[in-house]
Amino acid sequence: MIVARAIGQSFTHQAHYCTASGAPFCGALLSRAAEDILAGGPMAALVAPWAELDLAALLSHAIALRWLGAVHDLALSGATPDVSAAFPRPDRIADPERAWAAVRRQMDQDPSSIAGFMDHEPQTNEVRRSALLIAGALEVAGRFDLPLRLVELGASAGLNQLFDRFTYRFGDIARFGSDTAAVRIDTDWRGVAPCVDAPLRVASREACDRKPIDLGDPVATRLLKAYVWADQFDRLHLLDAAVAEAVRFGVRVQTADAIAFVATRGAPQPGVATLVYHSIFRQYMPARSQADLAQQMVRHGAAAGLDAPLAWLAMEPESHSSTDIALTLTVWPGGETRRLARCHLHGAWVRWGD
Ligand SMILES: C[S@@+](CC[C@H](N)C(=O)[O-])C[C@H]1O[C@@H](n2cnc3c(N)ncnc32)[C@H](O)[C@@H]1O
Repeated sequence: MIVARAIGQSFTHQAHYCTASGAPFCGALLSRAAEDILAGGPMAALVAPWAELDLAALLSHAIALRWLGAVHDLALSGATPDVSAAFPRPDRIADPERAWAAVRRQMDQDPSSIAGFMDHEPQTNEVRRSALLIAGALEVAGRFDLPLRLVELGASAGLNQLFDRFTYRFGDIARFGSDTAAVRIDTDWRGVAPCVDAPLRVASREACDRKPIDLGDPVATRLLKAYVWADQFDRLHLLDAAVAEAVRFGVRVQTADAIAFVATRGAPQPGVATLVYHSIFRQYMPARSQADLAQQMVRHGAAAGLDAPLAWLAMEPESHSSTDIALTLTVWPGGETRRLARCHLHGAWVRWGD
């Protein structure tokens, strides 16, 4: 089977990103997958549905990450013992060549066990992104001194709705949160400190996703883990802690498309600062919907006042490459937009004020 070279390139690009981000096992698996695509192996058939896309679109749709999530899910499920046995565990260094051989065998024998998982964009719920979200929320709290009404779009399992309940170490620059918090986030912070003294109070929380993860369902919760790179145990550990906290708290995410949700829930309300926010979600909407979201926010912004302000906080790729991430904040009244930071995709590092 012949597929466009761009797909192989998108896997190679992701392989480099994983390796550079401290996930060499995943980087090696993706490199083998890229070679297999170009050689016309079982990978080529698996990625054929996206053969017409160019490199930018492949990265936006995260095809390589869908595949990586699919094979990690297979490993976590235990359904294919030789795949499970070849994946990393905290007590075991894994050999990516052995893992690739087991995965390739599985793709040959039963491609549907992987293809089905790849139908949907990644359902990651990356808890360390809360370091950016809390810093943005503190800006809003400091500016208006009103309780925040949180409205999250594309929330997945809703773990980042609880950003005010976690504790943070912003490098050696600042700390925020209670010493007894169950979820503890460390990020490599450069630049000035976030406004950790701002009066942050949360009045209410609402969130939507077009396909929320139900934390009561063990298979769905395994899927969340599957999207974490298999050799990044700190991320897996953080996810476990945040899932336990979300279950304790009773986090809820409504099943809804973001455009419809923001139209009804994103309007400013008196006595609270409405904070509409999202992270690594906008790229999964068609360009038309992205424009609709911006227009809807401007319409809501026109109704904002000092007693009913509106803020729009977005941690999203700056370009199609999907690895240059920025945190931007738009505030009404006024509608002024500022880039607050540049950051790593998962919030591992932040350059505040960049
Ligand atoms: C990569 S995940 C990120 C989840 C979360 N925001 C985070 O940062 O961990 C993207 C999420 O956006 C959701 N999504 C994509 N398009 C959507 C839409 N039009 N409306 C609502 N949710 C959407 C997906 O279902 C998925 O859960």
